[in-house]
Order: sequence, then C-alpha cells, then structure tokens
Amino acid sequence: MIQYEVKGGKPLHGTVTISGAKNAAVAMLPATLLVDGVCRIENVPDISDVRLLLEILADMGARIQRLGRNTLQIDCSHVHNTTAPIELVRRIRASYYLIGVELGRFGHARVAMPGGCNFGVRPIDQHIKGFAALGANVEQADGYVCADAPEGGLQGGHVYLDIVSVGATMNILLAAVLSNGMTVIENCAKEPHIVDLANFLNAMGAKISGAGTDVIKVRGVKSLRGGFYSIIPDQIEAGTYMTAAAAVGGSVLIENVIPKHLDCITAKLREMGVRVTEYDDSIRVESTRRLRRANVKTMPYPGFPTDMQPQIAVCMALAEGTSIITEGIYDNRFRYTGELSRMGANIQVESKTAVIDGVDRLYGCEVRACDLRAGAAMVIAAMAADGLSTIEDAHYIERGYEDIIGKLTALGAQIRRVEVKERHKEVQSVG
Ligand code: EPU
Repeated sequence: MIQYEVKGGKPLHGTVTISGAKNAAVAMLPATLLVDGVCRIENVPDISDVRLLLEILADMGARIQRLGRNTLQIDCSHVHNTTAPIELVRRIRASYYLIGVELGRFGHARVAMPGGCNFGVRPIDQHIKGFAALGANVEQADGYVCADAPEGGLQGGHVYLDIVSVGATMNILLAAVLSNGMTVIENCAKEPHIVDLANFLNAMGAKISGAGTDVIKVRGVKSLRGGFYSIIPDQIEAGTYMTAAAAVGGSVLIENVIPKHLDCITAKLREMGVRVTEYDDSIRVESTRRLRRANVKTMPYPGFPTDMQPQIAVCMALAEGTSIITEGIYDNRFRYTGELSRMGANIQVESKTAVIDGVDRLYGCEVRACDLRAGAAMVIAAMAADGLSTIEDAHYIERGYEDIIGKLTALGAQIRRVEVKERHKEVQSVG
C-alpha cells in the first residue's frame, strides 16, 4: 500500500507547472488505434492511468516509444483485433474508449466492463445508444460489452444524448470518425478535453466540427494518418493547486494553464476572499486571510466541475460560516466527507447535498483516499491541518496527479510517500 505522510501548517510558496490533461490523454491514447501511422503526442501526463492504458495498447500489439517523460510515439497501424486483457481493463474507467475505437477500426469490439472510481452506479447506456445509432449491434454479457458493425461498416447517424456525458460524447465521436457519412451528436458535453480530442483527431485527418458546443458533427473519413499533437494542460490538476493555495494559505504561481478553463474555479475562490491574478498562461493564487463561506453546485462544463468538489469542500471546511455543496453529476460523491470529519470538519450530508459549517482548524490524523479527487482533497486538508496526517490508499491519487509529492515539496509542503506492507502502521514523523 502507498501512503502519504503530511506534516501540516506550513503555507505554500513558489511555482508549480501543470501537466497534460488526464481525461484528454486517456481518450487520445486509445484513439491512436484509429490512426494508420505514427502519432507523436507531447505533454502526456506521467500518471498511473496513462501507464495502464499504455500497457493495454502494448498488449494489443501497439509499438510505443517514450521519447521523454511526457512525449510518446505510438504506432498502431499493424494492430489486429484482439480483446484487451480483462485484468487491466477493469482497473480503469477510460477503457470504455476501446469499445468506440475497436468498433470504428475493426467493425467489432469485445471489451470488459470498465472500472474506475466508484461514485455510485455509472452506466454506459448513452455510449451504447450512440453506437446503435451508427448501426452497431451491442450486447452485454458475462462482464463484457460486445459490439458489431453492420456489413459495410458503421453508418453516420443522429444521436440525442439523454444525459450530458463526457464519456459518451467522446466514445461516439471515436466510433464515428471512420464511419460512412455524417454523424450528429446533440446535447453533448463541452469539456475542454472533448475539444482537445477533436483537435487531435482533426490533426490526424478527421473531419469533426462543433466540439466545445452542444452539437458535434463528424463527417466520416476513410482513414487517419499519423501526426503530431500536444495535449492541453489539466484543468483539474490546476484547480487542485489553486484550492490547495487557498486552503493552506500562501502565494502560488501556477504555470502552464489555460485561465479560461479555470473561470468557474477562479470565480468561486474570489467569492471566498482569495486573490487570483490571471496571466496569459499562468495564474497566481494568494490567500492570507480566513476564507469566506460559499455555495457550489457541480455541473457539466462550463459549470463547476464535479472533479473539484472534494477539494473545494476542504476550503469550505475552513471558511467562516456555513457553505453548501450540491452534487449535480454523481449519486454518491460524498464518501470522503467522513474522512474530513475525522480531521475535525463539520459536515452533514443528506443525499446529494453537503452542509459544511466552517471550523477554525483541522487536526492531522489517519485518513483514507477514497478515490482520486477525494485523495487530493485529503492531501490539501492534511497540509492545512495542525500536526501529522497519514493518507492511506494514496495510489488513487497517483492515477491522476503527476509527481504530486515533488510538486508540493517544491512549494514548501512537508509530504513524503511511503510504501507499506501492512494496512495499519504506526505514524512516523516526516521531519
Ligand atoms: N451517465 C449515464 N449513462 C451513460 C454515461 C453517463 O447515466 O451512458 C451518467 C453518469 O452515471 C454520471 C453522469 O452521467 O452520473 C456523467 O457521467 P460522464 O459520462 O460525464 O462521466 P464519465 O465519462 O464516466 C468522465 C471523467 C470523470 C469525470 C466525469 C464528469 C474520464 C475517464 N472520467 O467520467 O473523471 O468525473 O467525466 O466530468 O474522463 C476524475 O478525473 O476524477 C473523474 C472521475
């Protein structure tokens, strides 16, 4: 087990550089299966979800070369239709993109039902509805999704999503790129990583328009060629460091960001009394006083992201007054509040609403990372708390944050990573 040991109470000062967007990378890597040629991708975050996907692609026969920590060269032109290993696929939610790309490239897909963070039931009915609109026959049996294109391949179709879904939007897009004719996806998600995936595919020869609006049109092409692409900075990693500076205090310059993607987080932090200064591709967050209360409702982009909900909760836990969070995306994304309460936070959860009465201080203790973003929130809370904290199951955090220990240490945090054999271990000093 990986655990982090954090000694809290020290403000953060310095500069941090944001890595490439995880949720763009985890779609783009499977998308290389659609390309007949070599893809060179820069700014790929070095995180465990990416390493897992590379393992899956390599197992399927992709030729992968690492040209630097964040630059990959991937050639899938000679990959044959194989079933990706179930034990790897089950460990990552984004493996659902293999269904769209295999269906698009081979006309047939057999992929184990995806895993990922558990926020309640996470169906993929909208993905399946989209594949069916392109003429595919999709069945689910024995823990696998099996999809077959009709004779002559997938045909362009019209899909109106019942729910705004990031995964369904990208997956239908992936399946449609090599289909015959025009596909229209309505009520689609507008997240920056959707635009990034469309830009990547267009750079390889696809014909996609409208990404970033709620109607995407895909004109099918015969093949995609290799090319070069650089992934956008990670909106959520940037937001996490913004909330860290806000909750812990100090002054942090966050480099390699697209400030526009952070508008809703910037606005919320300003409302809470934090000073946020935007530059062309960086943002400074300064926090010297106690935070003010605020309310947040998570929504699809450009609303406040659900993936920032646990981190902003830590700010609210330390703010003056009562704050309310309404979770608008998932059924069950408040599991981490029990862990925050152990540190002294005062949080009442009722269904999809959390009422947070701000406290003067949090206290270090042993807590668990329930999932990726909850884990990041625990790190922030531990840095803001008095005393020593141990965060168990920190491997979740490493699914989505490149070198979080190195980046936070450079900002003055006292944090270290330990690998332990037993679950319960005595807390040690981090000096
Ligand atoms: N939904 C359905 N049916 C579907 C698809 C989604 O009912 O077919 C529901 C989901 O259960 C959820 C809502 O629609 O209640 C939105 O889900 P969405 O499909 O947008 O989420 P996702 O594609 O499974 C991605 C990110 C998540 C992020 C969400 C929302 C990846 C690999 N994951 O998940 O990222 O929370 O979009 O923005 O891109 C994270 O990075 O920590 C993370 C969990």
